[in-house]
Amino acid sequence: MSKQMIVAGLDLGTNAVKCVIGVRHEDGQIDIIGTGTHPAAGLKAGTVCDQQQAVTSIREAVEEAELMAGCEIKEIYVSVSGRHLESFNSHGMVRIRSGTVDTDDVRACMDMACAVKLPPDKAILHAVPQSFIIDGQAGITRPVGVEGVRLEVHAHLVVGDIQALKQLEQCIRQAKLRVIDMILAPLAQAEALLSPQGRDLGVVLVDIGGDTTDIAVFDQGQIVHSTVLGIGGQHVTSDIKDCLNTPTVEAEHLKQAHGCALAELIDADERVSVPGVGGRKPREIERTLLCQIIEARAEEILRLVAEELRPLGYANGLPGGVVLTGGTANLPGLVELAEQVMGMPAARAQPKGLHGLVDVVRNPRYATGTGLVLCGVNRRDVQWFSTRLTRPRKRTWGRIFGRSRRV
Ligand SMILES: Nc1ncnc2c1ncn2[C@@H]1O[C@H](COP(=O)(O)OP(=O)(O)OP(=O)(O)O)[C@@H](O)[C@H]1O
Ligand SMILES: [Mg+2]
Repeated sequence: MSKQMIVAGLDLGTNAVKCVIGVRHEDGQIDIIGTGTHPAAGLKAGTVCDQQQAVTSIREAVEEAELMAGCEIKEIYVSVSGRHLESFNSHGMVRIRSGTVDTDDVRACMDMACAVKLPPDKAILHAVPQSFIIDGQAGITRPVGVEGVRLEVHAHLVVGDIQALKQLEQCIRQAKLRVIDMILAPLAQAEALLSPQGRDLGVVLVDIGGDTTDIAVFDQGQIVHSTVLGIGGQHVTSDIKDCLNTPTVEAEHLKQAHGCALAELIDADERVSVPGVGGRKPREIERTLLCQIIEARAEEILRLVAEELRPLGYANGLPGGVVLTGGTANLPGLVELAEQVMGMPAARAQPKGLHGLVDVVRNPRYATGTGLVLCGVNRRDVQWFSTRLTRPRKRTWGRIFGRSRRV
């Protein structure tokens, strides 16, 4: 009997709902075998604004992926993003009961780190252990089996709005799917895009999507900061529309077909045609002008990211630099602009260790979906599934899902 494992991921973006299906073969190779994309009607900045439309978008994206993959999906990993998510670092400490750390001690210690006072409408989505300390010895990543008296943990907590998470789950249930887990989008992406060495060195992952820009900072192997900015590629499109007085759909086409985030890379004599509104004739403009509009907004986004890093002590950048992902990362010149603005090495995200549909694997737009597939495949090895570690039960998960569930 074949031991293939099929895993599906659902990225609920503001621009598009993207479903990615992958298969892990017996020899360990992972192929992406199906993908479906549908405009994200009913979703805004990671939350549901029209339930019926959201259900249709999800169903359409999943059906398209199922058709391509030739299989039916019943359960799925889902990414969460949005401005309702907040993150902060916490600390927990317990006595090691038997003198040697076991999984119950780790769980109890993570529980202590999760014991924070939250507003009644918020719940913990993830608790990621950053590092453990045993009897004052810091920097331990795998504490089980180590002897000692006192176990401490530094943990990164991601907190979300209960109602927003509940509504997402309801929509997915109505689309006839069971949610296996909800995973913070940058954590999922990190699985596909960041090497363990990069995470150790220190790297910032920047997902510039449609409405939002998600930032996640990794250092010494673990996530140390995550946040969501309410700005993205749609703001670039809207600038083009306003400055060049052209319909949104044409502005989007101009951006994708002729855009560049660094105007100095464009030949001064290149020209592009801009369709007019209300039946007016198209006119020719210098392509540099289009790219200057894009550059101004792209620079603003990157400066906001750099500002996020400053209070964290990364004013001079991170050794592993910045990894750009999300649909807007397709813009030519963005890598060069990021290096100029942020003063650190930059690269466009390239998922590792995946085969199959090459266009999907290579396109940063699908990085969350492919990351979710990898999270599912590597489920046992993914350390930050700490909500499982701590089994936060009725108090946290129970509050999100209305009952205690196996996580
Ligand atoms: N080739 C391209 N060049 C420039 N921009 C692009 C290109 N392809 C997609 N985009 C932009 O990427 C954005 C959508 O990216 P993505 O699919 O990652 O967003 P999303 O996940 O739906 O949104 P969010 O993450 O904000 O919720 C849109 O603004 C789109 O214009
Ligand atoms: Mg996105």
